[in-house]
Order: sequence, then structure tokens, then C-alpha cells
Amino acid sequence: MKKFLILVSLCFIASSLMAEPIVIKFSHVVSENTPKGQGALLFKKLVEERLAGRVVVQVFPNALLYSDTDEINGLLTNEVQLIAPSISKLIQYNPELSLFDLPFLFKDFNSVVKYWRRDISRELLSPLANNGFVGLDFWGNGMKQMTATREIRLPSDAAGLKFRIQDSEILKREYEVIGAAGIPAEFSNSFTALKNGIVQGTENTWSNIYTQNYQDVQSNMTETNHGVIGYILVTNRTFWAQLPFDVKVELNEIIHEVTDTVNNEAIVLNNQALQKLIDSNKSTILTLNESEKDAWKEAYASFLAIEGSHINRSVLRAAEIVNR
Ligand code: LMR
Repeated sequence: MKKFLILVSLCFIASSLMAEPIVIKFSHVVSENTPKGQGALLFKKLVEERLAGRVVVQVFPNALLYSDTDEINGLLTNEVQLIAPSISKLIQYNPELSLFDLPFLFKDFNSVVKYWRRDISRELLSPLANNGFVGLDFWGNGMKQMTATREIRLPSDAAGLKFRIQDSEILKREYEVIGAAGIPAEFSNSFTALKNGIVQGTENTWSNIYTQNYQDVQSNMTETNHGVIGYILVTNRTFWAQLPFDVKVELNEIIHEVTDTVNNEAIVLNNQALQKLIDSNKSTILTLNESEKDAWKEAYASFLAIEGSHINRSVLRAAEIVNR
């Protein structure tokens, strides 16, 4: 009997040693030198250190594998196991997430990160499960800035221009408020849309602007800080459910650490990108004075009130608290 048990144990050990490692394909659309790009690489590094031989992570940056829409479908069909789409692209699965598309709601990026550290953010992730996702955490990129083929100081300067936006109804309406048009396009097509003049402007963080080379096709950039680009790190329920318990515990721990690093270092990466844009001397970069900043906030005050009234009171209230 004893020999039999030893034999069974040896077989078990041998079979687990021979077991193929779990592969996590992590697809994203941005450059590696951005908060999300760096987060994906750090996740890979930590997983392969702490779960060596058991889990392998393959990172596909720059929309090499999938563009925005395709990566969501690819996740749901388990072709990839991890993505971090911008929150705007997940609003269709939880309308409350439109909070993060509201202009001038958060006073700065640190307030947004504070929001993500509150319990209320977990409540915003839960409904994603109804569509087959597991929302793991919020990663931030930074505040959005405007770029265009002409100088934009005041909302009226944007009137008549077409801006490439992410595919979000709120963002579309946001541009109507200032007499402009928001044209949804995949992130990977945004440079070409600007270059070919299909749109004359766009909005994004300094790190995305610099790494997508918008400076080659946009003569003007304005530090508006009018909104935020944040991400939800998501996997699919089928993949997550079949992971061994100890692997899931370790992955959760790693995700927690990587999230902190991404959110703590995003501002540094965006400041570095801004400096590179200034050094490249290709676009004029404007900062706004206090009265210009007020003009933007005034232009959006009633829009903010109307759009905010569709959002759950406690979700909105938490944003007021973190702004204090
Ligand atoms: C976009 O403008 O589509 C970006 O948010 C892409 C990204 O993932 O940062």
C-alpha cells in the first residue's frame, strides 16, 4: 500500500512538472512607452518571476494582434486572456462608467486615482460580469489634452473642426457643445485620419500623443486637462474560472502591485512625453490662463449637470469627495 501511494505521488509530481504552462496573451493598442505599455511589461515580468514554469505571459502592444473593437471580441472568445481597453470602450457594458467621460468632472489625475482606490469603483466593475468579463482593476494613463491644425485657446476656437474621438456617445455630444464634430475612429487609425485630413484634431494624453507621432500632423496642442484616459484591466470569465486557486491568488497579488505602479508613475511618463514634444519643436504647445480655463468649464457646466443626472447619485458623489 505504501509503495502504491509513493508511486501515485511520484506520478502526480511528474505530471504537474510536465504540465504545459498556462498562457496569458495580453493584447493592447498603445506603444510600450506609455503607462499601459509599461504596466503590461511589468505584469509579464512579475508573473514570470513568481509563477515561473506555471504561467507564461505574451504581450502584444501597438494593436499588433487586435485593434480596439477586435480586442474585446478576442477576449470574449478567449483568443486573448487579458486586455486593458480605455473605459470609454466599456461604457456599453455598464453605462455608469460614462462618469469617466464627463468633461471637467475630476480636478486632476490624482483625484481620479483616489476614486479608483475607493470601494465604489469595485461596484462599477461588477456589472461587467453579466457580459462575460471579469473586471480586475483600474489603470490610469492621464488627463486628456487637445491637438488641432489651428490654435485652440477657447471653446469657440474648436468650432467647425472635426476631432477624432473614441467610440463613445458622451464624447460625441461633448464636441457638439462647442460647435465641433466628434468622429469615432479606432486608435490605430487615428494618425492616418489626422494625416489625411479626415479629422483636423483629436484629444489624448501626452504619452499617447507623443508615441503616436501626432506632432508630425498637428501644428497646435493645448493643455486642457479636460478629461481622463483610464483603463479597466479585464479578463474573461471562462479563463478566470478555470485557473488553479493558488495561481489566481498570486495573479491577484501581482495585479494589485502593478496597478499601484502604473497609477503612481503615469504622471511621470506623461511629463516626459510632454518634454519630448516640446523638445521636438514640431507643434506649438499652449497652456491656458485662468480666465481661459474658466471659459472651458463654463462652456461645459450645463452639459456636465445634464449628463451627470443620468448617473447614479452615489457614483457621482464619490467624484465630488475625491476632488476636495
Ligand atoms: C484612444 O484614444 O483610443 C486611447 O484611449 C487608446 C488607449 O488605449 O490609450
